[in-house]
Amino acid sequence: MIDLITTLAEAYGPVGQESGVRQTIEQLIKPYVDEIRTDPLGNLIAYKSGSSSENRIMLSAHMDEIGLMVTHIDENGFLRFQPLGGVGPWTSLGQRVRFADGTVGAVSSEKLKDIKELEFDKMFIDIGATSAGEAQQKVRIGSVACFDRTVAVQGKRLSGKALDDRVGCAVLVEALRRLEAPVSDVYAVFSVHEEVGARGAGPAAYSIDPTVGIAIDVTPTGDTPEGEKLPVKLGEGVAIKVKDSSLLTHPKVKEHLAELAEKAGIKHQYEVLGYGGTDAGTIHTIRAGIPSGAISIPVRYVHTPVEMVDLDDVEAAVELTCALLESPVPDLA
Ligand code: CO
Ligand code: ZN
Repeated sequence: MIDLITTLAEAYGPVGQESGVRQTIEQLIKPYVDEIRTDPLGNLIAYKSGSSSENRIMLSAHMDEIGLMVTHIDENGFLRFQPLGGVGPWTSLGQRVRFADGTVGAVSSEKLKDIKELEFDKMFIDIGATSAGEAQQKVRIGSVACFDRTVAVQGKRLSGKALDDRVGCAVLVEALRRLEAPVSDVYAVFSVHEEVGARGAGPAAYSIDPTVGIAIDVTPTGDTPEGEKLPVKLGEGVAIKVKDSSLLTHPKVKEHLAELAEKAGIKHQYEVLGYGGTDAGTIHTIRAGIPSGAISIPVRYVHTPVEMVDLDDVEAAVELTCALLESPVPDLA
């Protein structure tokens, strides 16, 4: 599991450039599914038939990560940029970032009178170029850099960039590997464009027309010093989403997930979030409405280069995903 998470998290894959991550995942899941296709937006959709084709379960983990997009190259070769997805100026400052071709840059800012003035339009990326021409040999307007960070392992805790949502991708890959006898037809979606408003999962859900839709994504925790008042704690198990700003989990879906966790003795907790969203926020609004929910993996410091997960929570998420796929879908009416 550690190797799988590391491989996926360290890969380059900002919103709109998920192809590298997609190729890696396709190779990983090929032996375990019946069919794989990539849809017109770039979603990877894997199908595994169940013992009954009465119901279809769609699971969605997003491949994309947040990034910084180049908007201007100045005469000295410094790059101005805008955020791609929910990346903040504070968490970008002082970071090393990496472009698709391997070019690395340092993120810095103009001299500020007050650090509170730190905004993206006062910041730049330095790729070591000495002129616009030299910079243009490596990057263009529209090139995207992601945090450049390897995964660190300390006991049960992993820290790195893009665990949102490569840890969710790892959970879905691992669940497909372990899955013995799915009851319903399984559609495992590795989606694109989540970080800019969960845009990829909608068309995927439209084509699959699932009975139920489940996002596998991360959720922030409230267990750090003087942190946000959030119920989720790192190491306390997989989180079953109750709500975020994009979704109220379908009550029967929530109940079903909770019952499965209880029956199988999977450590779990409930997530109530006042902001944020996942693919489930889009999936449930597709067609005539798709009952949806989310299996959430607790992550500290979401959208920073030092996102942190606990391996026990990851394992619990894999177990709950398998339990869901190895049980019949209850009556959701
Ligand atoms: Co995110
Ligand atoms: Zn996410």
